[in-house]
Amino acid sequence: MDMHALSEEEKQHVFMERIINNEKIEADDWMPTEYRDTLIKLISMHGISEIMGALPEKEWVPRAPSLQRKLSIMAKVQDEMGHGQLLLRVTEDLLKPYGKDRQDIMEDLFSGRLKFHNVFHMPTKTWADAGMIAWLVDGAAIMTQTNMLNASYGPYARALHRICAEEVFHAQHGESIVMAMAEGTVAQKEMLQDSLNRWWESLLMFFGPATKETTGTSKQDITIKYKIRSKTNEELRQKFLTKYIPRIQALGLIIPDPALAFNEAEGIWEYTQPDWKKFKEIISNKGPRSQERLRLRKISYSENAWVRKALQESFTPSS
Ligand SMILES: [Fe+2]
Ligand SMILES: [Fe+2]
Repeated sequence: MDMHALSEEEKQHVFMERIINNEKIEADDWMPTEYRDTLIKLISMHGISEIMGALPEKEWVPRAPSLQRKLSIMAKVQDEMGHGQLLLRVTEDLLKPYGKDRQDIMEDLFSGRLKFHNVFHMPTKTWADAGMIAWLVDGAAIMTQTNMLNASYGPYARALHRICAEEVFHAQHGESIVMAMAEGTVAQKEMLQDSLNRWWESLLMFFGPATKETTGTSKQDITIKYKIRSKTNEELRQKFLTKYIPRIQALGLIIPDPALAFNEAEGIWEYTQPDWKKFKEIISNKGPRSQERLRLRKISYSENAWVRKALQESFTPSS
């Protein structure tokens, strides 16, 4: 259909018909500004979080306790950087009509306009954290990402198919570390419990606040309206609790929330709400490691400038 001949209102209508009919929207298709802007925000945050997550993880490569663990955490770090690259390319296509590119994404990160996931603002103190993150943070990421495997935006859905396949390997790598420690010495078990105690609140926060009352926006509604995602933040958090609570307890670990209980009548988990005010501060780059991670990213961005320059020169036609 020639979209140019249509009025703005007709274009909106045709677009929503395509969404309702589960058609995939592609990079060059006409799309409402609200759809484009929502995707840019979502995918750039996802992509940058992959890269910002690789930073705390790579700190553990030299300290991994065996060659096998070193190889698997190294593979994970490489995968995460690759996920970041894939997603930033998807974002770049969406940014084209605005005359923006990848450099602008990086500058938005450095200036604080572009946020990254709460978990990557936190310190990783012990090897148990490396296991806990891979098992449960990647486990949580698998839940939010599989929720978007059928996203209406084709390039994002296709990138997620590849990413999710690799995330499963990450979660298994984490589970293997956690299981080894749970079967280990008293000191190892204590280290694991201490890690869970420190990470539990961040894991609950990972899915975002439940309601509009706490966020003051209807971002969730927009992504659901356009079939970018299907489940809400709270539905995803509940799914996570249902899957992982029995597994965590089976390892002999105690979840640090005395209010945690399954409400049989309503079929939901009851839990102590994380501190959502603190969550907002953390993602506004006021978390314990926010500034340090941003500083590291800036250093590597400027130190690698020559690679970008060399690539650009070698791909520019010489005519
Ligand atoms: Fe990833
Ligand atoms: Fe991962």
